Amino acid sequence: MTAPVAESEGLRALAVDIACEAGELARSRRAVGVSLAATKSTLADIVTEADREVEELIRARLANERPGDGFLGEESGSDAGTTGVTWVVDPIDGTVNYLYGIPSYSVSIAAVRGPAVPGSWASLAAAVFAPGLGEMFSAARGGGAWQDDRRLRVTDSTPAGALLATGFGYDPATHDGDLLTVRRVMPIARDLRRGGSAALDLAYVAAGRLDGFFERGLNAWDFAAGALLVEEAGGRVSRFDTDSARPMLIAGGVDVHSRLRDLLDTEK
Ligand code: IPD
Repeated sequence: MTAPVAESEGLRALAVDIACEAGELARSRRAVGVSLAATKSTLADIVTEADREVEELIRARLANERPGDGFLGEESGSDAGTTGVTWVVDPIDGTVNYLYGIPSYSVSIAAVRGPAVPGSWASLAAAVFAPGLGEMFSAARGGGAWQDDRRLRVTDSTPAGALLATGFGYDPATHDGDLLTVRRVMPIARDLRRGGSAALDLAYVAAGRLDGFFERGLNAWDFAAGALLVEEAGGRVSRFDTDSARPMLIAGGVDVHSRLRDLLDTEK
């Protein structure tokens, strides 16, 4: 069922408002120093005290303003709701950048209809805010993707090859496979970037700052908001190998998306 644009616009406004407040908390905590709270899947996969605190803020605001909605967050897990709307949240996407003082990290908030399972939901609204860069990207289903009051549009021609971005998982055992993937796509690339925040990479595809993006093994909270930005900016997003432990996500304008799919989707 498609949500009326007015409903999605309301969710977008709330996502933007909460992402601003959450981003300001992340930025101010960063200014006084970062403390590691734990490691997760591997030693390189970290969570900071700020990740937890920022997610708590987002969760509390949503519970206050939209009681009954579901929630899926990177740090605090999931709650099924009763309204059919679920919020998919990464409080700090690009945690390693955050730790190292690189400003390319973001708060990523998406509202989706349906279960919090990628592929089963319909995205309604999204906000990706990079407080270290002062940049807010947002989208509402049917209402376009925006950076402040500038409407976003993906690139549609790449005569000198595509400027692509990717990311690598935290498990060193997966690096060789990911590098083979890079080798496969380089024939269509003009160059390659590894920014460190998948949500921001997708926002940059939406903004035409990148022509395409690909990464294996992303979690729902890494791409839920960014994927809607790309689609609302006229681009395409696909996930495949979804039965594997590390599904592939690709995004780009129509042409780059199709070329990435030809190169990477072996079952196509
Ligand atoms: C990570 C970032 C990174 C991507 C990793 C993600 P996190 O999210 O999005 O760019 O390459 O796969 O896990 O851990 O910083 O929230």
